[in-house]
Amino acid sequence: MKIKILTLFPNMFNGFLSESIIKRSIDNNIVEIELIDYRKYSNDKHNHVDDTPCGGGAGMVIKCDVLDRAIKDNRNEKSYVCLMTPQGRPYKEDIAIELSKKEELILICGHYEGFDERIRDYVDDEISIGDFVLTGGEIPAMAISDSVIRLLDDAITKESYEDDSFSYGLLEYPQYTRPIEYDGKVVPSVLLNGNHKLIREYRLKESLRKTLKRRPDLLENRSFTKEELKLLEEIKKEEE
Ligand SMILES: C[S@@+](CC[C@H](N)C(=O)[O-])C[C@H]1O[C@@H](n2cnc3c(N)ncnc32)[C@H](O)[C@@H]1O
Repeated sequence: MKIKILTLFPNMFNGFLSESIIKRSIDNNIVEIELIDYRKYSNDKHNHVDDTPCGGGAGMVIKCDVLDRAIKDNRNEKSYVCLMTPQGRPYKEDIAIELSKKEELILICGHYEGFDERIRDYVDDEISIGDFVLTGGEIPAMAISDSVIRLLDDAITKESYEDDSFSYGLLEYPQYTRPIEYDGKVVPSVLLNGNHKLIREYRLKESLRKTLKRRPDLLENRSFTKEELKLLEEIKKEEE
């Protein structure tokens, strides 16, 4: 996969690209990341990319002609162009899965007051990473790249992410490691007896319990299996 990031602040990505799983994925040619400073698509001698808002008001608006030139120069028939914007569709794991199947992503980072509205006609998607406003699209572009790269073949093992929260529609079950007892709190004995059938059942039940408590909205449209319905009944009785 190739990810092109259009940004005014390429240096913000230095740490992101040079550590841990992202660095390893780049080194192993699983992903190629290109940072493109879209100032180079400005057509004035001072490299301006923004201007004051029509109608007045605070801040600066990124010009649509600059971004259009940047998109045209970088897109090909395989590209999927996503605008980072708090007004976009809310980012979720299923969108990460969808994006991980594309051959090339172009992520456009805004700054200041955001973009000239007309740029929306030149992109394939608009994504928000949450109902809050950041100073720029660089952190959203990192969050999206990170969540997509970890799903690519050989970035991490499939087992490392297939039980993660959201990948099967629930929050992940509780995880423990040594010491077995800490400050009077003991690891559940079922995890220590090596019985894989019981461990699987315990984990599914605790996933359901956590999701019910913390994110009941995730269960609203779920088609439950017979086993899940039975475990939910048990949980309800236990919590009474
Ligand atoms: C200060 S914000 C502009 C917000 C814009 N004036 C609005 O109210 O919708 C600057 C840039 O940060 C990025 N950004 C901020 N919050 C974001 C979020 N929650 N998700 C995705 N991008 C975001 C976008 O690229 C945006 O153009």
